Amino acid sequence: MSDQHPRYFRDPSDPIYTPADGPRGTVAPYRGLYEIMGEDNIKTMLRDFYRKLGTSKIAGMFTGDLDKASERSALFFIGLMGGPPLYHQTYGPPRMRARHIPFRITEDFRQEWLRLFNEVLDDSDRYQFPDAHLPEFRAFLEGFSSWMVNSEGP
Ligand code: HEM
Repeated sequence: MSDQHPRYFRDPSDPIYTPADGPRGTVAPYRGLYEIMGEDNIKTMLRDFYRKLGTSKIAGMFTGDLDKASERSALFFIGLMGGPPLYHQTYGPPRMRARHIPFRITEDFRQEWLRLFNEVLDDSDRYQFPDAHLPEFRAFLEGFSSWMVNSEGP
């Protein structure tokens, strides 16, 4: 295999990198967000994010139907933001780090993922995302995404 292109999927024999800090004290987003924004806005936000991912330098990691993938993520965020536990009901326990293990998530890739989500949030008005809660939401993404890193290297 050539080393010229980054790999986006882990081989079962690849060592798993575990962030030294563990899940860290990530503060969950404000649970009133769902009521303020509503389901459609949250789904649109995730759809915009996944479309960006689809043309990003980590697009190779998102090989399925992007709109369907964004739906699954949206269900998770809906629960996190104080809405009904649709993700749990549909897919079972979230176990997010475990669900991300098939993907080769390096610090570099995490930075790209975060950059794009933050770019979407720069358009907060489009989703009726209340500005007062943006800093803590960005901080949540920063903290939680570091727990998704499972591989060393670029
Ligand atoms: C705040 C941090 C993160 C959260 C809350 C999150 C959440 C999710 C959720 C809910 C799913 C759907 C799981 C399912 O299919 O049931 C998902 C899938 C995925 N995530 Fe994340 N994620 C995070 C960070 C990351 C990072 C940093 C990367 C890569 C750099 C990443 C890459 C992926 C990929 C490749 C998928 C599969 C998409 C597909 O179905 O095609 N995630 N994530």
